[in-house]
Amino acid sequence: MAPWLRLEALGLTENGVRIVEDVSLKVSHGRTLILGPNGAGKSTLLRLMHGLLRPSAGHVVWPRALMQAMVFQRPVMLRATALANIEYGLKLRGIPAEARRRQALAALTRVGLPELAARQARRCSGGEQQRIALARAWALAPQVLFLDEPTASLDPHSSREVERIIGEIAEAGTKIVMTTHNLGQARRLADEVIYLEEGRVLEQTPVDEFFRRPRTSAATTFIRDER
Ligand SMILES: Nc1ncnc2c1ncn2[C@@H]1O[C@H](COP(=O)(O)OP(=O)(O)OP(=O)(O)O)[C@@H](O)[C@H]1O
Ligand SMILES: [Mg+2]
Repeated sequence: MAPWLRLEALGLTENGVRIVEDVSLKVSHGRTLILGPNGAGKSTLLRLMHGLLRPSAGHVVWPRALMQAMVFQRPVMLRATALANIEYGLKLRGIPAEARRRQALAALTRVGLPELAARQARRCSGGEQQRIALARAWALAPQVLFLDEPTASLDPHSSREVERIIGEIAEAGTKIVMTTHNLGQARRLADEVIYLEEGRVLEQTPVDEFFRRPRTSAATTFIRDER
């Protein structure tokens, strides 16, 4: 499989703090999960990949340009209805009003929340906002979707539901790069796992192997503690 994304000696230093350090890897699978403890640099790495942060060393290389979207760990909703939040990105793409409305509603239905269409997004619960954010990103029909802990504030039922949706999005051909703390979720969703600690990649391994026989003691401990 040819890699669709390459990181070459990628580094980010902010205020003298090394947040991401010398990361070189290739992403060629459809579903890559990034694991690691709090503060490991997972969100920062996603932002670097997505081009929201400029690296202080190295490169993010896209062999061919792919349309990307990202869902943030703490999604920001516009002061508008849930539907308008989803429509906004489509509007920026120049999609006409009627098609926009239809696509936005389809996306909201997709995440199981069509009844929230007319609700003020900022009044929605944290979990609802997370799903609206997923709908907002998915509505753009991205080729690559970066998801930063997309189920972090969801209850177990909603979490499984969102996993199912992510699975379907991946089935339909969208490449997923996602962070999570939930090992079960990593097992269910990942093709491969990237394990990060203190801004460094300690492993990049096919998912079965990662859980069966982690290569580093750091990952072994992480797996044991998270269980
Ligand atoms: N601008 C900055 N200046 C200094 N340190 C920063 C800056 N931005 C992030 N950091 C630090 O970099 C580290 C990595 O942060 P990041 O949010 O990427 O971690 P994470 O793996 O996503 O953690 P979590 O699991 O809690 O979401 C943290 O220790 C954070 O405090
Ligand atoms: Mg994070």
